[in-house]
Amino acid sequence: MKKIDLLYEGKAKKVYTTEDPNLLIVDYKDDATAFNGEKKGTIHNKGIINNRVTNHLMKLLEKEGIPTHLVEEISDRETIVKKVTIVPLEVIVRNIAAGSLSKRLGLPEGTKLDSTVLEYCYKDDALGDPMVNNYHIFALHLATQEELDTIADYAFRVNQFLSDYLKDLNIELIDFKIEFGRTPDGKIILADEISPDTCRFWDSKTHEKLDKDRFRRDLGHVEDAYQEIMKRLLGE
Ligand code: TMP
Repeated sequence: MKKIDLLYEGKAKKVYTTEDPNLLIVDYKDDATAFNGEKKGTIHNKGIINNRVTNHLMKLLEKEGIPTHLVEEISDRETIVKKVTIVPLEVIVRNIAAGSLSKRLGLPEGTKLDSTVLEYCYKDDALGDPMVNNYHIFALHLATQEELDTIADYAFRVNQFLSDYLKDLNIELIDFKIEFGRTPDGKIILADEISPDTCRFWDSKTHEKLDKDRFRRDLGHVEDAYQEIMKRLLGE
């Protein structure tokens, strides 16, 4: 299967049409941005790592009964995925306080949350992806009640599975962001990526950050952290 037209170029990925109207090819870039595109850089081989890590995790999630857009990895950086309409929500799941939650609620980073926190942000770069609740989502027709129930159910199941899976690899899943899409027949499936760009991964013992916070906060050893995640998940 070959790329035909560039359908969309995002901050970290390019998406191409193919000869099959139901399939797209995603091409992962090394470009990195933070703070809504204000900070820009490159992370060497990030595209390869995020492609491979995302596909590895999506395959495992499929086996757990979470439907995903994954069809087939076709190269280091490219994957065939099902064409979906993205639900314009960033679905964030948090186990430990960090990042914007720590800031907003004054909880020191690393504070364990006594129950899992689910948040939604409206995907709109011009507005800076504002946080919304169920009422905003229904009022703006971003998703139906039934779709949101499915999204929340899948988000908690993804969290449970990934937390347990990563624990065995000495990785603590602090929080993550996922996105969902609608198939032409109206089903909700997991789309986008699950990678060190979109998750906070801390080493279980040292609490060393093994994710994009190293880039966001200029902590150094960014490439090493991405490489370490790939090594722990894929053994290379
Ligand atoms: P936050 O603490 O900055 O709100 O981030 C929560 C999680 O969402 C964290 O794992 C990083 C991820 N994330 C993205 O994937 N994309 C984004 O644009 C932002 C702000 C966060």
